[in-house]
Formats: sequence, C-alpha cells, structure tokens
Amino acid sequence: MFIRFVVAVLMLLTGISVYAYFVGYRVDEDVSLLSVGMPTDTTLLIRRGEYLTRAGNCFGCHTVKGGPAYAGGRILRSEYGNFVSPNITPDRVTGIGNWTSDDFWRALHFGKAKDGRLLYPAFPYPNYTQISRADAEAMFAFLKTIPAISQKNQDHELRFPYNQRSLLVFWRAMYFKPAVFAEDKTKSPEWNRGAYLVQGLGHCSACHSQRNIFGANEGVNDLSGGELPQIQWYAPSLLHTNEAHLLNWTQNEAATLLKTGVNRKSVMSGPMAEVVFDSLQYLTDADISAISTYLQAIPVTKADTISALDQALTVSDSSEQTKKQMMQQGAVLYRTHCMDCHGTEGESVASVYPALKANPGLQMSSIATPLRIILAGGFAPATQLNPRPYSMPPFGPILSDSEVAILLSYIRNSWGNKAAFVTAAEVNHYRTVPMD
Ligand code: HEC
Ligand code: HEC
Ligand code: HEC
Repeated sequence: MFIRFVVAVLMLLTGISVYAYFVGYRVDEDVSLLSVGMPTDTTLLIRRGEYLTRAGNCFGCHTVKGGPAYAGGRILRSEYGNFVSPNITPDRVTGIGNWTSDDFWRALHFGKAKDGRLLYPAFPYPNYTQISRADAEAMFAFLKTIPAISQKNQDHELRFPYNQRSLLVFWRAMYFKPAVFAEDKTKSPEWNRGAYLVQGLGHCSACHSQRNIFGANEGVNDLSGGELPQIQWYAPSLLHTNEAHLLNWTQNEAATLLKTGVNRKSVMSGPMAEVVFDSLQYLTDADISAISTYLQAIPVTKADTISALDQALTVSDSSEQTKKQMMQQGAVLYRTHCMDCHGTEGESVASVYPALKANPGLQMSSIATPLRIILAGGFAPATQLNPRPYSMPPFGPILSDSEVAILLSYIRNSWGNKAAFVTAAEVNHYRTVPMD
C-alpha cells in the first residue's frame, strides 16, 4: 500500500499530473453526448429501463440483502477497505431525486457524481461507460419511478491513501477512457449485442480479471480470470477452456448455465450465483443467446496459468504465492471434475462416494493411492453385500500432470486436510510406472 502511495507521488513528480489535468479536462468538457431527445412512449421507456437496470445488476450492489430496493448501504469489501453503496432511489435528499438525466449520464459515462466528486471504480463505470445514451436515459426513467427511500449514505471505510478521492484523477488518467460501445461491423448483430452486454452493462470483467497493484485490469475485454481477495472467491477465466471458456458447452448448455445457474454438469455458486439471481435470470432468451455467442467466439487462450505454474511445481517446497495460486486453480478443477460426486466440501454426496474431507488416505506422506485412483479410476470390488459398487472414472487421460498435481494438492489441503503439496514431476512419475 505504501508502495502504491509512493508511486502515486512519483507520478505526480514525473509530470503525469499534467497529462491527468488534460485528460480530466477533456473528460469534463466532453459533453457532446449529453442531451438527446426523450422517446415519446414513456411506459415503454420505463419498462425498457427496468430491464436494462437488471442487465446491469444495479440492484445487486445498491440493495442490502432483504432491504429496500436500490436504497444503498450494501458493504462491498475490497483490499482497499469497505465501500458502501449509495442510495439511488428518487429520494430528493438522500437519493438521486434531484439529479437530472445529464447528471445520471455523467455518473455512468464519466464516473462523476452530481456534485463533481470523482467516483471510485468500485462502481464499475469503466464498464458502464460503454452504455449508450439512450439506454442510460431509459434506466434513469425507470429509477425515477421506484419508491423513494429516505436513507442517508454512509461513508466508505477506506485505508489511507485510498480514502483520498483526489488521487482518482491519476487513476482515471492511467486507466479510464470514457467511450460508448462501438459496433464491430465485421461481426453479426448478435455478436455485437453480446459484446455490449458482456463488456458494458454486464460488467463481467469487473470480477473475471486480475487486477494490478492499482486495482486496474486490462480493460473491458479482460476476462482472463481473477481473484476476489476479500471474499476468497476466484472468478475463472472465460478465455481458457481449462477454466470456464463457454466453448466447454454447447450453445444450449451455455445458455442454460447463464440463465439458470446450473446445467447438466456445472453449477454457479457464490458471487456468480448472485449475478444469476439478481440479473441474468431476467434476461430474454435472445440476450442470453447473444452473450453466449459472444463468449463462445472468443479465441481460446492457451492455458498459460497452468503452464506458468509448471516451473514452480518442479519443487515441492513451493512459495506461499504459488501455493495460493494452486489452491485457486485447484478449486476450479475440483468444481469442474470432482464436486458432483465428492461434494462441495469434500463431504461426499449421498454417502455413496468416499468423503475426501478428513480422509486419512489423502494426508499421508505417500501420495500413491489417491494419485493412482485419480489417474486410473477407482473400482471397488463387486461383492455379495455390495454387488454394484460405485466407481470413479479415470482422469489420467483428460488432465495434465500439473492439473493433477494442483488437484491433489488442493484436496490434500482443503476442508481441514493438511499435507505436503504435490509436484507435476511426482505425478508424471506415477503415470510412467506400471499400475500393477
Ligand atoms: C459492483 C457494485 C456496483 C454496481 C454493479 C453498481 N454500482 Fe452504482 N455505485 C457503487 C458504489 C460503490 C458507488 C459509490 C462510488 C463512490 O462513492 O465513489 C456507486 C455510485 C453510484 C452512483 C452515484 C451516486 C451518488 O450519490 O454519487 C450512481 C448514480 C450509481 N452508482 C448508479 C448505478 C447504476 C445505474 C448501476 C447499474 C447500471 C450501478 N450503479 C451499479 C457500486 C455499484
Ligand atoms: C460479482 C463478481 C462476478 C461478476 C460480475 C460476474 N461473475 Fe461470473 N463468476 C464469478 C465467480 C466468483 C465465479 C466462480 C464461481 C462459480 O463457478 O460458480 C464465476 C463463474 C462464472 C462462470 C463459470 C460457471 C461454471 O460453473 O462453470 C461463467 C461462465 C461466468 N462466471 C460468466 C459470467 C458472465 C458472462 C458475467 C457477466 C454477465 C459474469 N460471469 C459476471 C464472479 C462474477
Ligand atoms: C462419478 C463419480 C466420481 C467422480 C466424478 C470423482 N470421483 Fe473420486 N471416487 C469415486 C468413487 C466411487 C470412489 C471410490 C472408488 C473405489 O472404491 O476405489 C472414489 C475415490 C476417490 C479417492 C480415493 C478416496 C479414498 O478414500 O480412497 C480420491 C482421492 C478421489 N476419488 C478423488 C477424486 C478427484 C480428485 C476427482 C476429480 C478429478 C474425483 N475423485 C472424481 C467417485 C467419483
């Protein structure tokens, strides 16, 4: 944190402030898009606004669980401290009741509040800046019709220097460029609609990307997977097929997963379950289909996260950082391949599959048995008392050495289990020794 502050000061000294000044200036003055005429049919406009507000999941952040809709007060934990979302109901004193549609547009598109405060990007305006003026207009029209709730905004609880709003001028100069979504004419309308929803309104990159030390990612297309550190979740990469690239599914399966949070083989949990519950479930089939069309069309990136770990995995005494990464990757692999039988907490499902939690076989210094079962499958003998045992399919053919090493390290160190981490070389050794 101190380093970040020092860098901020250095930026000031090295003249980035001058750049910031001009960018800030430009951001202020670029009001060309500010006023456009209102469509005439207001009922339709409001309905459309309600739909778009759902697609942007404004509800999710601006509503306390069980509390009045859009009245704010939800705590959003981050590594910089806690943000508290403001009241965006039409209450004139505590909400945005006296905002004009230009004020509202300025917030979404430029990340500035009515009183000129620069807004923290915890409000995902780096994505929302892509929203069209017409869509912003519709959302504003809808938000004016919801019940006005009088609820005072709370201050964020941020650590120094993040509590210095004025420093946002640097952040914006470096990482924020206001721009409405630009259609790619070489692509289909469906692809473009999907891109608009994913990059802008749906703000998928807000969670599905890694952030640098300034809390910035590589932009709205950065879906390479990222940690949500304060809440201990990992939003998997949507670019890698070994994580959550939608090419892992047929169009139909992908659409079912996005709209219902479950499909034949996968289930969305934690923050993603909330995204589905508060937002994606309300989308039309056409929009869901546009999102999956767009995400499926993303070229597959080679699994560099795994291969970067390969090197580190050659030593069993890996660094804490590597171990942390392995645990994150392991959680993803476990959810994909093992959870259905062995349970979300390794507790076993329907007591027909062995529990992995508190399983002594997993915490021995020898990894031979579990490793062999994972590679070659596990088939209990069929006996009189147990004539049709459940068996475990072999994963050797579908998982790489590093993936198996990561998985085994993960199950050896989850749910209270504790044991040494496993290396890819060790896995490879067992692959090459004969089974019996
Ligand atoms: C990821 C959480 C999150 C989402 C999603 C989100 N917001 Fe916010 N919003 C915030 C936070 C946090 C702030 C406060 C930012 C600050 O104080 O700088 C904020 C601020 C605002 C403000 C400024 C209010 C004021 O009093 O200054 C408006 C307007 C707003 N959001 C509207 C929206 C709309 C409309 C949507 C949906 C399109 C939305 N927000 C979605 C978290 C979110
Ligand atoms: C609030 C943070 C957040 C946002 C916003 C978010 N995600 Fe996620 N997403 C997650 C997390 C965390 C997971 C991992 C948990 C899981 O797999 O259920 C996840 C998982 C996923 C998965 C894999 C699910 C599986 O079971 O295979 C897909 C696909 C996905 N997200 C798509 C999206 C899309 C598309 C958007 C934008 C419309 C989006 N996410 C927005 C946090 C988020
Ligand atoms: C289709 C259900 C199923 C899936 C999927 C599955 N397992 Fe299993 N697993 C089993 C069964 C059944 C056994 C018991 C096998 C036996 O009796 O030899 C087992 C046994 C094990 C054992 C040995 C436990 C012990 O106490 O001996 C380990 C370790 C294990 N599984 C890990 C995994 C991992 C890691 C994955 C994901 C890559 C996975 N399993 C996926 C059903 C499954």
